[in-house]
Amino acid sequence: MRALRGRLLWFVDDPETAGEAAHRYVEDGLLVLSGGMIQATGEAAELLPTLPAGTEIVDHRPHLIMPGFIDAHLHMPQTQVIASYGAQLMEWLNKYTFVEEQKLAQQGHPEKLTRFLLDELLASGTTTAAVYCSVHPQSAEAFFAESERRNTRMIAGKVMMDRNAPAALTDTAETGYADSKALIERWHGRGRQLYAITPRFAVTSTPEQMRLSGQLAAEHPDCYVQTHINENQAEIAFARELYPDSDDYTGIYQDFGLLGAKSLMGHCIHNTKHEWRAFAEAGAVAVFCPTSNLFLGSGLFDWARAKRECVRVAVATDIGGGTSYSMLRTMAEAYKILQLQGQSLSAFGSLHAITRGNAVALGLDHLIGTLEPGTEADVVVLDPAATRVMAHRLETARDLAEELFVLVTLGDERNVVATYVAGERAGA
Ligand code: GUN
Ligand code: ZN
Repeated sequence: MRALRGRLLWFVDDPETAGEAAHRYVEDGLLVLSGGMIQATGEAAELLPTLPAGTEIVDHRPHLIMPGFIDAHLHMPQTQVIASYGAQLMEWLNKYTFVEEQKLAQQGHPEKLTRFLLDELLASGTTTAAVYCSVHPQSAEAFFAESERRNTRMIAGKVMMDRNAPAALTDTAETGYADSKALIERWHGRGRQLYAITPRFAVTSTPEQMRLSGQLAAEHPDCYVQTHINENQAEIAFARELYPDSDDYTGIYQDFGLLGAKSLMGHCIHNTKHEWRAFAEAGAVAVFCPTSNLFLGSGLFDWARAKRECVRVAVATDIGGGTSYSMLRTMAEAYKILQLQGQSLSAFGSLHAITRGNAVALGLDHLIGTLEPGTEADVVVLDPAATRVMAHRLETARDLAEELFVLVTLGDERNVVATYVAGERAGA
């Protein structure tokens, strides 16, 4: 048994609707971990006397202890694509991404990128992510094997693409279906691993591949579906041209049974009124990728609109269109995107989004994104004063909200003191 002592912060509701009642903060708190789960959460003074002899107490005071962060969309094959110059989506895909993704056919390469990615996510305090692998089934196999070795709760899938990509990066409707099905049978629900059926986007799938993806989703309703939509005007025009019979871009996914409550729809920047309605009716999740949307010049995600339309929103890095592995940095950019639209996002709102908010969007809030007893012990320990700039700025912070806003605005992996995965310290 292990207990972590520090300032506990977590959410039981959404601060945008529940205000101050949404968060729990324990100034001198104790988090008791046992068997990979959180066993007790509360005041150190009350819990310390109850601990069995021999319990290891890790004193993280005065640092913050929060649920591990959750990243709802990123690409494992793009860890060496991040920071590629001068292009918007379609050119960027062809010029950089599809070139690097071909290397995943090489023996050992998916393993190498996966190890790098998981090291970097954990160093950034991220303990769960929804991950696109490459078209090669062995890329998903390598990813899940490494995630299982580390006991991280991860969602991943083999990308399906059968057109508009280099021949070396395409499967066929039939092999995409069969290989995905085999991966689902092998990995979905094994330990902490979960599968996402992953047609990359309508542009790179034929109607037959979309149909079989929908069939796979119907056959495995507890798997996720992850894809891209309404990111960039040229992409939208191309998708509409390829699927002239569908009402709109969302209609394409709808027509093939790919828009449901487990669908993680990347970007949604240019959703129309009709499309927001379809999302709300289906319960589909709009995945906001701030650093990517700015880096690729894709546009400004309308957070207030999504909320107004009662659409669930998740947030994500979208590595390597995105430019940071840190969910803190991601939320700093989210704040600026909202500012440009006259919207605002409090520090509590941001920290909620990357913990409980994303857990709710993924339907995993009974397991992760919280410090409630009975949930999985994925935890991040944060030092808001880790950098000179932040320590200096915090000299004038008057309360918790101000301190957290500094953390969210200036913070990144440098603020991560420790990350615990199922109760064990990562990288220790
Ligand atoms: N749309 C289809 N594939 C991708 C991708 O890899 N990254 C981003 N940002 N958008 C996409
Ligand atoms: Zn993406």
